Amino acid sequence: MNSPTDPLRILIASSHPLFAQGISSLLEKRPEMDTEVVGMVSTIDEAMNALQNLNPDLVIVDYDDDQVNREEFLARFVEGEGRLRVVLFSLKEGGDEAIVYDRRTMAASQIEDWLDGWSQPADELDPHPVEPDLVPKQPKRRDSMRHIIFAGLLVAVLIVGSYFLLTTIELLPEQASLQAIPIDDLFRVDFIAIAVLFSLIVGLMLYSIIVFRRRKGDDSDGPHIEGNTKLEVVWTLVPLIFVLFLAYYGSAALGKTTAADPKPLRMDVVGSQWSWRFEYPDYGIISTDMVMPVNKQALLNLSSTDVIHSFWVPEFRVKQDLLPGDDFERELRVTPIEIGEYKLRCAELCGRDHYNMLAPVTVLSQADFDAWVQAQTGSVSDDPVVRGEAIAQQYGCLACHSKDGSELAGPTWAGVFGSEEALDDGTSVTVDRAYIIKSIREPGIQVVAGYQNIMPAGIGADLTDEQIEDIIAFIESLQ
Ligand code: CUA
Repeated sequence: MNSPTDPLRILIASSHPLFAQGISSLLEKRPEMDTEVVGMVSTIDEAMNALQNLNPDLVIVDYDDDQVNREEFLARFVEGEGRLRVVLFSLKEGGDEAIVYDRRTMAASQIEDWLDGWSQPADELDPHPVEPDLVPKQPKRRDSMRHIIFAGLLVAVLIVGSYFLLTTIELLPEQASLQAIPIDDLFRVDFIAIAVLFSLIVGLMLYSIIVFRRRKGDDSDGPHIEGNTKLEVVWTLVPLIFVLFLAYYGSAALGKTTAADPKPLRMDVVGSQWSWRFEYPDYGIISTDMVMPVNKQALLNLSSTDVIHSFWVPEFRVKQDLLPGDDFERELRVTPIEIGEYKLRCAELCGRDHYNMLAPVTVLSQADFDAWVQAQTGSVSDDPVVRGEAIAQQYGCLACHSKDGSELAGPTWAGVFGSEEALDDGTSVTVDRAYIIKSIREPGIQVVAGYQNIMPAGIGADLTDEQIEDIIAFIESLQ
């Protein structure tokens, strides 16, 4: 063992010559410190040899050098036989600052004081080579338990509170169909997931902000933590299991909402810009109102005459797009379970009057529904004007053409028959029987000036010649 008057013999463990240069120049700047760099090693074997030959007092290990196994150096020299003083050192660029062991940054003047401590004989020092206040404070076990319990309580309270809020503010409308039940069960699982995730994130964040805030005058870094296998396994497995559960649960719910009754009520639902039409092929009824018997599954065949629309009655929960084209009919099954009045909305942005593409939905008892069917089928008027108005209503014509002169998406029908209208190509036309038939059968050829060409192209194919004659009689009557 060297006497206190001998120079402090320093061994450098690094594979980078620059590191040794940096340390040497740091020491040279302080000649009053009696030190001597006796060698440089990069492996533990070289270090063992150097220990024999060079008799160092202090080993400075390059913290940033991956080739040097610092754990091994600490184990062999500090805990092991040598009981040599070892220090981990990280040099900063410029060489005026250094980071020691726990990555605390020291100014040049502090390094001097700190190195001073190393010129004492080894046996007068604490067997642990790093000064106590440089060692990151390990939280005591009891402290961590306390934090876990308090933070856990906070998270639990937040979960209960946010779930209570989500389920009591009535986010969901009335549950009016059989298909709504499994969907609401899914919503409930969603609400639980939202409450748990929100509380876990916000709760732990709030707790950390308050309890682990930086106190006045404390400018030290936090402990350097690298990895936690247990935690990583938990936060991978728990979400994985939850997502698998959701996949199973979602598929089961999908199965329930699409389950088919053997004898449903067949309905064709046709969407047009911007109206709805409901056809009952078993009864020969066409209606602008959606009327359904309670507790009987309706099988809806959905189609569109122009653009994409979307069938959505919020109380029924299920929703389905209506696509244009004969090959794109879509099916939807709805079993109403509550008698009442609802509203069908279009849930796909489909143009100017999308917001107003609504239809009343009425769920009746079976007896009332039968009476409605009777009333619809028993009363075909022998007045073509009355029939024409009903057809214009059912096919959505009146959604765009007013009968009282008010301005809608298309020209009004009030007083139009027999009038002279300017067209968008600069010519003009007399609105007569021939022009009306042409406009229905081939819309877009002679468009009235000032209006867009948005008449549904397929509408003509849906109407018979007799129906068009009735519509003409109705238009003629609007003088
Ligand atoms: Cu049809 Cu929006």
